[in-house]
Parts: sequence; structure tokens; C-alpha cells
Amino acid sequence: MEGFDAYAGAVSHDEFFKTLAEKSDGGKLRGDYSCADAQYVVQQDMSLYTPEQQALWRRLYERQARLLQGRACDLFIESLAALDASSEIPNFDKTSDALEKATGWRLVAVPGLVPDQTFFEHLASRRFPVTVWLREPHEFDYIVEPDVFHDFFGHVPLLFNPIVADYLQQYGQGGLKALKLGGLKNLARLYWYTIEFGLVESPQGLRVYGAGILSSGGEIEYCLSSKSPRRIGFSTERVMRTLYKIDSYQESYFVIRDFQQLFDETAPDFTPVYERLSKLEDYPANTLLPGEVDLAANLGSN
Ligand SMILES: [Fe+2]
Repeated sequence: MEGFDAYAGAVSHDEFFKTLAEKSDGGKLRGDYSCADAQYVVQQDMSLYTPEQQALWRRLYERQARLLQGRACDLFIESLAALDASSEIPNFDKTSDALEKATGWRLVAVPGLVPDQTFFEHLASRRFPVTVWLREPHEFDYIVEPDVFHDFFGHVPLLFNPIVADYLQQYGQGGLKALKLGGLKNLARLYWYTIEFGLVESPQGLRVYGAGILSSGGEIEYCLSSKSPRRIGFSTERVMRTLYKIDSYQESYFVIRDFQQLFDETAPDFTPVYERLSKLEDYPANTLLPGEVDLAANLGSN
């Protein structure tokens, strides 16, 4: 799940709140934005988490950690274990101190979704916004908006990897440019199909690195084992042309060889790419182009 609203563009605080309210149930904002600063940052008050919420975190963590084995990429599993976040909702400052030593990133607490420009500014400055609140018990299996479990469990471990850390900063810088160039919808698809729903090759078969999958109880198995979706070799422009579903499991996943490929292929200036793509049709989410094959079938993991 994106921590930003990919279609809102650069907006004022008032406009952003209005857009969010219109999208939320009954016009109510999920997070408390009243204490947020100009960058939508709030303090994480550990004393506000109730024993029931801490117990819910533990249940979410335990279920998800069981599902990771043989499905998540090794880097994620190793980094998650080092975070030692299984017993309670993590203190962002404490994690930030370790993260800063590893890759120069810090976490910032946010009330929920933030405007695109703010989101990109955080990433470009090596700050990752993490939602402070935890889902309700009835949302154990599915939540629409990102919460602290999705943001922390799904996203934070790979920030300890230097290449992913650099990729995300590069993405933030690219986002600020895309806002001016009208390329936001294309760039948002890149985030969606990599950071949120990306797969990576490994000697043992396909593995997951996308946070949207890693924090989901059902999609983590579906994306690797189901015959329904396609698992297609990653290519920047292919991904940028492809629509995605926000209310169901993905119909296509894109597979990188390794994180270096992701960094290298997304390093060039996208200005001519946006220009070219603006004249081309988007691909539906379930497209399989001539010459593309389902890599899961190919690797014998289906
Ligand atoms: Fe996310």
C-alpha cells in the first residue's frame, strides 16, 4: 500500500484533508492530524498503545512470521529477525538509531496517508513515514489503508539493505520530478509493482520482497503458488504502463533478478519515458504480452 495519494498531485493541507475525507468512510479521517507538523510528522507516544493493541501486534507478527519461511527473500527474513520487533509495537526512535547506522535512514511517525509531495520529500531525505496507529481486531486479515503493521513489518526491514535504501531515496527524488512532469501515475505504478508487490529471483525459486504482500496473510502464498496471476520479468516501461488493482490480489507480479537490477534500471531520467508513455495505451493488469512467460511456471515453483 502506498503511503501517499498517487493521483492528488501537489496540494495544500486543506485540499489534501478534503480529498482524504471524501475518500474515507463517512468523511472521517482515520488518523489524528491535529498535532502533525508541516511535514505531517507526529510524535509516537508509546504510552497510548493499549495492552489489547500490543496483543494484536503480537498475533499479527506471529502469523506473518510463520508465512515468511520459503516465501520472503532472505534479506527480509534476516533483517526482520535483527529488528527484534515480535513482542511489541516498535519504538520508531529506537529503530531509527539502528537504521541510521546501517543505511542513513530514519523513520518518522505520521498520522496516516500524506500528500505526494510530502511523501517524496521524506524519501528523498532518507526518512520513511510510518503510520502510528494499529488496525482494529476485525481488520486482522485485511486493511485498506496502511497501518503501523503494514508500514513497519512490511517496509522497514529492507531499508537496512543499502541498495534498497538508495533505490527508495532515488524514487523520492524521481517523485518530486514526476509531480512537475505529469508522470505521477506512471511512477506510482513503479512503486506499486516493486516496493509494494515485487518478487525477486533466488536460487531456490521466486521470493517476495514487496511490503503489500509481506504484510498480507493470504497474498503471500497466492502470489507464488496460484496459477491465476502472471509473474513477469521486470522492465521499467512495462511496469509503468500497467494498471493495478487496489481491492483484490494482483493479477500480475513483476520479478527482478536482484535489487541492483532494480536500482540500475530505474536510475535514468524518466522525462522522455513519461513523454513516450503519455501517447501509449495503458495495459490492463492481467496483460501477458507476446514473448512474456510466467516465471513461476518456468522455474517449476507452480
Ligand atoms: Fe506500503
